[in-house]
Amino acid sequence: MIIGVPREMRADEYRVAVTPAGVEQLRRSGHTVLVEQGAGLGSGFADEDYQAYGAMIVPTAEELFGEAELVCKVKEPQAAEIRLLRPGQILFTFLHLAASRELTEGLLRSGCIAVAYETVRDSAGRLPLLAPMSEVAGKMSVQEAARCLGKPTMGRGILLGGIPGVAPANVLVLGGGVVGAAAARVAAGLGANVNVLDVDLNRLRYLDETMPANVHTIFSTPEAIRARLPESDAVIGAVLIPGAKAPLLIPREYLTLMQPGAVIVDVGIDQGGCCETIRPTTHREPTYVVDQIVHYGVTNMPGAVGRTSTLGLTHATIGYVHRLAELGLAGLAARDAGFAAGVSVFRGELTCPAVAETFVLPLSKKTW
Ligand SMILES: NC(=O)c1ccc[n+]([C@@H]2O[C@H](COP(=O)([O-])OP(=O)(O)OC[C@H]3O[C@@H](n4cnc5c(N)ncnc54)[C@H](O)[C@@H]3O)[C@@H](O)[C@H]2O)c1
Repeated sequence: MIIGVPREMRADEYRVAVTPAGVEQLRRSGHTVLVEQGAGLGSGFADEDYQAYGAMIVPTAEELFGEAELVCKVKEPQAAEIRLLRPGQILFTFLHLAASRELTEGLLRSGCIAVAYETVRDSAGRLPLLAPMSEVAGKMSVQEAARCLGKPTMGRGILLGGIPGVAPANVLVLGGGVVGAAAARVAAGLGANVNVLDVDLNRLRYLDETMPANVHTIFSTPEAIRARLPESDAVIGAVLIPGAKAPLLIPREYLTLMQPGAVIVDVGIDQGGCCETIRPTTHREPTYVVDQIVHYGVTNMPGAVGRTSTLGLTHATIGYVHRLAELGLAGLAARDAGFAAGVSVFRGELTCPAVAETFVLPLSKKTW
């Protein structure tokens, strides 16, 4: 198969979908790998590193999309990339379709086959391609919250971990999955008081058994959230309903319950976010203030730490890319129902139930 690895187009996105080590694995099985010039630079991989393992460097995205049968990316395609997609071409990347009708319709119009990293499941029902990026974003969310609590970013002027004689910050984590657990562990490690809310009792049991003593687990209800907002200096939004738009947990009127200068880092912004007033932001301008509350909504948080994130992501994705190249889409989807759950758009038809429900679009019953 001809596999293409374009350079990511988004501002401040430093990840790349395949490393030179991944190219070596694909080349050994006889596949052709095209890498766009400079694609790996943000993650510390030069064109020569790719060439050394047998990749062909192509100068433009046009050429790469024109030749590749399978395009492996990191972030959802931008408008200029959607225009390059061809009918029947396989696109394997993060998509987060429920956050964008425009993207969903663009992919449907292209006729491509789009497989979303974030809805592929493993045999235990987990999300193996989302997990490494959630680990990164969860850890980063606390670093970012700590920075946003500073006065220069309009925060409360509170040091997350406190000092002897001065209390640490209170951190509220909404959703105790991969992002939430990573955030809770880092915040607790810095000395903050942490409350983690989730609706999954088994998950709360697990967190209760494994987290440090300054992490408390609470069953998530609107009442429980309202009760904790007045004392929370930082709120980390980490809820997910796979494939669907994030549930709304902080309507605008709840902001008045919070202290001026408190911070909301809504990591789930890529699925629309759980806070009514959150909107997508960038690493260059990560925050804004609404009703005296600092909002952080960067949609590609792991992109800032490209080296770590690329290595973490590709450790998880390369096995799928390899099997996809070996078996083709139909072959892999027939053998691996968890992979098939990632197929979101198939030759002009929508195949992800949660996205069809979000945008009230027809769901295809097609099998491939
Ligand atoms: N912004 C970024 O750069 C970035 C990076 C990585 C991940 N993410 C996003 O972070 C979000 C979380 O990802 P994850 O891997 O931790 O997901 P996950 O599935 O591991 O965890 C989500 C948790 O939310 C819980 N939940 C669902 N509804 C809830 C509710 N009403 N109240 C409380 N908890 C609820 C679930 O029970 C689950 O435990 C996703 O939207 C993911 O795409 C964003």
